[in-house]
Amino acid sequence: MKNFISVHDVSNINALVTKALAYKANPYADRALGADKRIGLLFMNPSLRTRLSTQVAAKNLGMEAIVFNVDKEGWALEFEDGAIMSGNTVEHVKDAAPILGQYFDILCIRAFPSLKNKEEDYSEQVIKSFVQFAGVPIVSLESSTLHPLQSLTDIITIKESFTPSHRPKVVLKWAPHIKPLPQCVANSFAQWVNAWGQADFVITHPEDYELDEQFTKGATITHNQDEALKNADFVYVKNWSTYADYGKIYCNDPSWMLTPEKLEQTNNAKVMHCLPVRRNVELSDEVLDSESSLVTTQAGNRVWAAQAVLAEILKAN
Ligand code: CP
Repeated sequence: MKNFISVHDVSNINALVTKALAYKANPYADRALGADKRIGLLFMNPSLRTRLSTQVAAKNLGMEAIVFNVDKEGWALEFEDGAIMSGNTVEHVKDAAPILGQYFDILCIRAFPSLKNKEEDYSEQVIKSFVQFAGVPIVSLESSTLHPLQSLTDIITIKESFTPSHRPKVVLKWAPHIKPLPQCVANSFAQWVNAWGQADFVITHPEDYELDEQFTKGATITHNQDEALKNADFVYVKNWSTYADYGKIYCNDPSWMLTPEKLEQTNNAKVMHCLPVRRNVELSDEVLDSESSLVTTQAGNRVWAAQAVLAEILKAN
């Protein structure tokens, strides 16, 4: 693996999942692999799980991890080619990225979308610029459109939580939120489940919340959440803002919150969410605090997903 930006960087999802679960059983199996290697984690946005799980994963492989909160401590970066830098930006990515490439063996970037300009966000200019200019492997810690470490974690969590008596039904269910959120987690989950190909995959959301087809193609899409939830084995709850009329909130209907009553329609489904979660807005306390919830296990699995990816990159580079 050269970089880890999307599912397209993975040649065999099941093999990567198996590797992650092997690390879960034996975290220090490859503690010498990253000896004398350094990983840089650049954050342009807040994080709890991604930041700490990637640091733990790097440490398990014997690497040194250094976190840099670019948004708070760094110079404002410019990404436009040919920009006349007479405004607020201080340093061009063309200048900064190769320097970071000299300091680190692997560089990880978190850069959320603006949600103001769809074309700009969906061009993935920030992460692509680091790939172009850093000269070392790049790992996405969530980009403008995708969150691949989260999605690998989600597949790991589904696989380890399911005794395969039948093909699982996996439902990605939109939920309300008070703020417009990126489509990244939903896009990425759809992309990975479709590429994995080992589940009946249904996406349910209110009208006008259609995601980009490049990620959802292959899934069954319905505005009828009750129909979607019938016989579900996994319900992945997530809010996202509108894609077509970009970055808007059209619906805050509380009937889209996942409650115990809604869960009754499922096949005793396990409930997933990437976290952080707005309790009693997206999911009710009763669901989050119940035996049905996988959210803590899921967040714990972030370490093993990151460790499997970093190990693949270390072996290949
Ligand atoms: N799920 C997730 O990416 O969590 P953080 O934003 O806390 O990293």
